[in-house]
Amino acid sequence: MSTETRYPPGPRGLPVVGNTVDLSRDIFAFFEELRDDYGHIASYEVFGTDACMVAHPDAIQQVLLDKHEAFEKGEVLTRNLADTMGEGLFVTGGEQWQNQRTQVQPAFYRDRLNTYVPEMRATAEETVEQWRDGMVVDVNDRMTEATMDVLGRTLFGVDVTENPIVSEASDAILARFDTSRFWSFLPDQIPTPTNRRYRQKLDQLNAFVDDLADQRRAQSPADRGDDLLSILVSFVEASDLTQEEFRDNMITFLFAGHETTALGLTYTLLCLAQHPEEQEKLYTEIDTVGDGRVTAEDLPGLEYMERVIDEALRLYPPVYMFFREATQDVVLQGYDIPAGTTLVLPQWAVHRDPEWWDDPEAFRPERFADDADRPEYAYFPFGGGPRHCIGMRFARMEMKTVLATILSEYTFELASEPNPELVASTNLKPGDPIEISLSQRERAGH
Ligand code: HEM
Repeated sequence: MSTETRYPPGPRGLPVVGNTVDLSRDIFAFFEELRDDYGHIASYEVFGTDACMVAHPDAIQQVLLDKHEAFEKGEVLTRNLADTMGEGLFVTGGEQWQNQRTQVQPAFYRDRLNTYVPEMRATAEETVEQWRDGMVVDVNDRMTEATMDVLGRTLFGVDVTENPIVSEASDAILARFDTSRFWSFLPDQIPTPTNRRYRQKLDQLNAFVDDLADQRRAQSPADRGDDLLSILVSFVEASDLTQEEFRDNMITFLFAGHETTALGLTYTLLCLAQHPEEQEKLYTEIDTVGDGRVTAEDLPGLEYMERVIDEALRLYPPVYMFFREATQDVVLQGYDIPAGTTLVLPQWAVHRDPEWWDDPEAFRPERFADDADRPEYAYFPFGGGPRHCIGMRFARMEMKTVLATILSEYTFELASEPNPELVASTNLKPGDPIEISLSQRERAGH
């Protein structure tokens, strides 16, 4: 093999806008076509800026794990998120990131997570209590409310449903970073209605978060408990965290944690609604859990459910791509990546690549049972390496708990379009509502 390297091949789109037009039309097809036409490492241009798609699992592993020090989150992301969460865990780098990650980690230790399960179940039960036999429900809406509520209760000890600012700000912030805006490299200081609303809601949200901290500070350390809010407050008191880092982390966790998990649940319910035979297998598994009220101890036993979730996140990864920027010249799979190149790691295209997945479009949870011989990074819904999702276990526990609670009461079928349109928004969102129609289950004792 030659040791010579070269720049990754790729199309050269229309003048000036580069491949931007193709990209915004159908970003999912764009990366799949790029991969099929030019290979797993391919270059393209957006608004005159060179970008490079990294869709080979071994190269993804290099970027996220083996050579992670040669990459950072990158200028686009840092600039876009500077106002909302620039000093938080998702955006910071180097020592500042390391320090924050170490500080908040205890809120995500396994034992700590186990204590969140009753709250997760209580939220799920409250959701299901509103449901009736024969009802049609909009899954994404209901799951978004539930995951927001869970975050509020478990990490911050507040009932966010009582204060609309969190969901209002969430909508305003997500709208501001919608689709093309997020990755389009456009200047974002233009005072559009979306931007004005965003600014106003962000101010209100910051005030709300400061207020929460004040209330917590007013309590004696012994009464504070040890949720994420208390952990952050005590680090501010010890001067290990600035007030700005505190705020940005509160906002980071609210945002990184709720829409993603709601979408994970939505797509799992979609897949199950389309596959009654898989639903059936889950009933058998869930019915082994005593009275249908799951506890933390029951969760590891729900193995089939784990595979169902894995498979739904493969087909519909809520985070369908993310970026890195090379801080030095690197070589990936024999290709030269010059310092400053923006890399995109597209879960969507990798998770559906026939090279690693048989019949990739099919929903087949068993593929996660066998230790199929595929590269580890052919599947990365939660990222990888040191910056992998800190909330991964939290999200998995929540998804299992909510699904078990729903499935112990209801069977369901799809009441909306079988192939919903998907929107490449900040996260992978359904374009139209995903609806299921419910049938109450007959269970012993019910
Ligand atoms: C199904 C649900 C979820 C998915 C698919 C998901 C996905 C991801 C991905 C792909 C990353 C890595 C991004 C990158 O490397 O650029 C990430 C990071 C992160 N996630 Fe999640 N996430 C989920 C749930 C959660 C939850 C529940 C929380 C918090 C409670 C959370 C908090 C975070 C944070 C703080 C980071 C940044 C970590 C760091 O840089 O050290 N996520 N997530």
